[in-house]
Amino acid sequence: MSPLNMDRPTAEPAENCPLCPRLVAFRHENKAAHPDWFNGAVPSFGDDKAELLIVGLAPGMQGANKTGRPFTGDYAGDLLYETMAEHGFSKGSYGAHPDDGLVLVNAMITNAVRCVPPQNKPIGAEATACRPFLTARLAAMPNLKAVLCLGKIAHDNVLKALGLRLAAHPFAHAAMHRPANIEFTIYDSYHCSRYNTNTGRLTSEMFSHVFSLIRRDLGE
Ligand code: URA
Repeated sequence: MSPLNMDRPTAEPAENCPLCPRLVAFRHENKAAHPDWFNGAVPSFGDDKAELLIVGLAPGMQGANKTGRPFTGDYAGDLLYETMAEHGFSKGSYGAHPDDGLVLVNAMITNAVRCVPPQNKPIGAEATACRPFLTARLAAMPNLKAVLCLGKIAHDNVLKALGLRLAAHPFAHAAMHRPANIEFTIYDSYHCSRYNTNTGRLTSEMFSHVFSLIRRDLGE
């Protein structure tokens, strides 16, 4: 698949996706400094027959960018995978490594932007360039019932990927959006980043509460 074939984008960009010049330059820097790291567009993790899709922001430098699996190896992943296990969305133990044997249950995890950005901050053009993959990711999940957006950037990108107006569906922690003509519910949570948990913006209870809402909708 060519990542440049935007007429029919697939749900997963090539590992060496060339679309964003700044991210490609950063990838080359990271490859030079850490040749043993993954350093590529991080593929989604989980089963595309799942009912739940979790959308993060972008790979963390020392997490997904290093290990090649979303949220794997960084602080945000510790809370995300612990909470998923608590609500029955995974089997096995999370070991912060892609070979830990962890299996997601009825869930998939992806990122709005698939390559690690400098300072963890993708620019608008990068989110726009990556959005066709998110649109295709959503379209390639026939059983989708719930999309959990981690943070406002993920929320905005999911809405744009679906052609929805942002003003009609404002981001708020634990908000649920059921837009007309969309077959699934969109849930919002503050991002499970170290910054948000250290500042108390997001507690583990608040995060778990959002998963309870999803679990209630999906059933056991
Ligand atoms: N790791 C990811 O893969 N995504 C995030 O949003 C944060 C950390």
